[in-house]
Amino acid sequence: MADEEIALSDKEFDRIRDRIYQIAGISLGEAKRVLVASRLAKIVRAKNLDSFDSYVDFLDRRASDKDKQVFVNALTTNLTRFYREDHHFDHLVGYVGQLVTNPRHKSSNGRPRLRIWSAGCSTGQEPYTIAMALMQKFPQLKGWDFRILATDVDTDVIAKAALGIYPAGELEGLSREQAAVFEKMPDGNVRVPVALRNLMTFKPLNLMGDWPLKGPFDAIFCRNVTIYFDRPTQTRVFERFGELLPDGAYLYIGHSENMRSASLGFSLEGKTIYRRNVQERMRAAR
Ligand SMILES: C[S@@+](CC[C@H](N)C(=O)[O-])C[C@H]1O[C@@H](n2cnc3c(N)ncnc32)[C@H](O)[C@@H]1O
Repeated sequence: MADEEIALSDKEFDRIRDRIYQIAGISLGEAKRVLVASRLAKIVRAKNLDSFDSYVDFLDRRASDKDKQVFVNALTTNLTRFYREDHHFDHLVGYVGQLVTNPRHKSSNGRPRLRIWSAGCSTGQEPYTIAMALMQKFPQLKGWDFRILATDVDTDVIAKAALGIYPAGELEGLSREQAAVFEKMPDGNVRVPVALRNLMTFKPLNLMGDWPLKGPFDAIFCRNVTIYFDRPTQTRVFERFGELLPDGAYLYIGHSENMRSASLGFSLEGKTIYRRNVQERMRAAR
């Protein structure tokens, strides 16, 4: 049976939309209908089910956590690339430059501490770009307690990200200096060097669920993720980010995203760059 032979009715599409919204906060618009049908048809056939309705019944009644994860992984959009929206990395380098001379925190062993979270990191290009941009500019960070937490709801992309292996074509558009960081592999792929991979902690994490992680963070990148959420969901996520960011720390969001910064305790500092500023929230509340 070919994928398109399984018809997706309005009611079935609504049920699927409801389930992915409940699990991952993702709001699927009408425009995603064909994509949803083609991605899920493969799973429906693999499960020997005869319709999308029976697949949703299966998800509701019998599915294991693994089955539910397969459903989520099938419906995420993972587009990303190295140095995407590169003005963010220029800004980050300027900001971390200030921290390098005047560290905000020390860890228990006395080393200066730097923590960055890439939330919705997809296949890893974003957190690795953070690492490359900072380590190229500030080699002294080698002596720091510097970690990058990289999380995503999609377990497939997290597994790929942790490997740090990419087709060489991913380096197109990078400067010679940026591309030179990667190691060439015998099979033609390229790999992020181990020194940069060692800065990373990759973990599955659903922004709709608990966040079992330790703040505070000096910066959070959550770019091109909340675009899939509705307004109330976005606001809740931004508020929770705020709780993990001390005054003066930064939140970077995607080029087509925005937030009502003042009421959430941030001030807009550049294109899609928000500085944590608790005073703003008090001013906005007056
Ligand atoms: C378009 S990619 C963005 C990747 C990267 N941040 C960038 O800007 O290049 C969006 C990512 O958000 C993830 N995502 C969607 N809903 C999520 C949720 N509820 N919790 C965590 N990640 C989520 C998707 O799995 C996907 O990998």
